[in-house]
This record gives sequence, C-alpha cells and structure tokens, in this order.
Amino acid sequence: MRMIVLSRGIGLYSTQSLLRAGYRRGHEMDVVDHFHCSLLLEGKKRTLVYQGSPLSGVDAVIPRIGASVTFEGASVIRQFEGLSVYTLMRSDALLRARDKWRSLQLLAAAGVPVPRTFYLSRTEDLHVMIERIGGLPVVIKLLESTHGAGVILADRLDTAKSVVEAFIRTKQRLIVQEFIEESKGADVRALIVGGQIVASMKRQAMEGDFRSNLHRGATAVPEPLTEEEEKIVRRATRIMGLAVAGVDILRSKDGPLVIEVNASPGLEGIETTTGIDIAGKIIEYVERSARKFASYNQHRKK
Ligand SMILES: Nc1ncnc2c1ncn2[C@@H]1O[C@H](COP(=O)(O)OP(=O)(O)O)[C@@H](O)[C@H]1O
Ligand SMILES: [Mg+2]
Repeated sequence: MRMIVLSRGIGLYSTQSLLRAGYRRGHEMDVVDHFHCSLLLEGKKRTLVYQGSPLSGVDAVIPRIGASVTFEGASVIRQFEGLSVYTLMRSDALLRARDKWRSLQLLAAAGVPVPRTFYLSRTEDLHVMIERIGGLPVVIKLLESTHGAGVILADRLDTAKSVVEAFIRTKQRLIVQEFIEESKGADVRALIVGGQIVASMKRQAMEGDFRSNLHRGATAVPEPLTEEEEKIVRRATRIMGLAVAGVDILRSKDGPLVIEVNASPGLEGIETTTGIDIAGKIIEYVERSARKFASYNQHRKK
C-alpha cells in the first residue's frame, strides 16, 4: 500500500517509528507536511497539491497533528476525506479531541467518569464555582494545553483569581478542575489501537511538580490497567471517535477518572517504556481498515 504520514517533521520519533514499521511490512511510505499543502475545490472535484504537484494514488493517511497546527491539519484531513482516501483519524474527531472542555462534556454525558470541572468566562463566578467543586486547591487549564504547559495548580483563591483574570483578559479559554491530590503526581497512560488496549504505563511527576507529562521530566514504568480502567479507556476512545488514542487516567479515591484523550499520542515514551512495537500495531490496523474502506467504496460505486 501507499501510506502517507501527515507530519511536520520527518525526524520526529513517532514519524520515524511509523515509517520504519510501514517499510518493515512492505509498504510505500511518504511523509507529507500538512502545513505545506495547497487545497483546491472545483465543484465536487478536489485536489491536494504538495510540493508543486497533485497528490494521488494514496491508499491510507496516518495523521500526526501537533497542537499548534490543529486547524491546518484538520483541513488537510478533510480534503483527503473528500477524495475518498482512508484516513486513520477523521477531521471532526481531531477537532473534538483538541478542545478539553468539549471532550469532557462529551465524555461526562456518555457516563465516562471525569474530574469535577467548570468552564469559566468571567472571573466573578470563580469563587462560587470553586466551592461547588469542593474547594481549593484547583487545577486551571488552558483548553488547548499540551505537554502540561498550560496546566497550573492554585492553592489560594487570590492566585487562582489572578491566573484566571490573566487568561480571560488575553482571550484564552480555560477550565478549572478539582485537584486529585491522592494521585500523588502520577497518572496512567493507556494506548489504544483499533479498540484494543496495546500498552499502558504509569507516569510519575518530577519531585516538586504535580504534572506527570514526560515533557515535564516525569518518569514512566509499565503498568497494567484494572478491568474497570480498561472498560473506561475503551469507552472514552469510542465516544471521541478515535481509532488510535492515548487516554490519561487519574486514580482517585472515587475510582479512575479520565482527564484527557490524546488524538496524536507520542510513541516514544510508551514504546521505550513498555518495549511494545506500537507503530507496528498501528500499521497493521491501518492495513486492515484501509482494505475494508476500499472494498466498501467499490461496492458503493457499483
Ligand atoms: N485535576 C487534576 N488533578 C491532579 N493532577 C492533574 C489534574 N489534571 C491534570 N493533572 C496532572 O497534570 C498533567 C497534565 O494535565 P493534562 O490535562 O493532561 O494537560 P496536557 O494536555 O497539557 O497534558 C496530567 O498528566 C496530570 O499529571
Ligand atoms: Mg496530558
């Protein structure tokens, strides 16, 4: 098959890992930078121009879209959808996953346990909302945070107020969440491919931090999920409409809580921690799904 990895950097670990896995299984692999695609609409006809020529003959697209280029990425994925090319992630699923509030609304509505959270558009409501979620400390998050970079722990009301004020003033949307103290700076990351949980690990924040992102210096060890956690992870991924996802869970005194479903989960940390060839499992899944997709399309055309 001819597979395209949509990625901004051929040198990135996850991109390399997918390319290697694809070559190993005999596929023709290419990297396309979604930031440098030109898209053409002519009535129902669509064209995607990359490096000066129309891209054709693609059997499957594997999007790896970074948070800073979500909209460009979604637009390119949508163009492939219009071209009836199989893509591992749908554009609407990407957009849904990149908004923390929208994701939590959907997950909570579907009965997936999530921390008590509120969306705030004016500082005046902060006080009463904090009381509703059980008091201080609280975690304040930018809706589009990644790698823990927009996640702040506030243990005083005046700190929370200042942070919220600054975010609102600079037109950044935010949520405020109950702090799950008993998780002690640890969370569990599960990697799911085509409905199957293929790997899981426990990440522990660096001394003096509560954020367990590997980009923040956290350490990781393999960690099995409980049956309840497995159920929750599978359900969360299904609700978000993702085939591949990294689901983050906090172990609270009231049971597991989903804090995030990552649409383009990094492969480096989890592959090196668990020794599992996740890229290989992704490629196998793409093969199966792209084949099904193609035969379905053929039947439809007849
Ligand atoms: N409500 C919370 N209580 C305790 N720790 C949290 C909470 N929310 C996030 N964290 C910690 O902060 C990290 C980053 O938060 P997350 O919501 O995943 O944002 P990002 O998308 O930036 O990774 C999590 O992995 C977790 O370790
Ligand atoms: Mg996270």
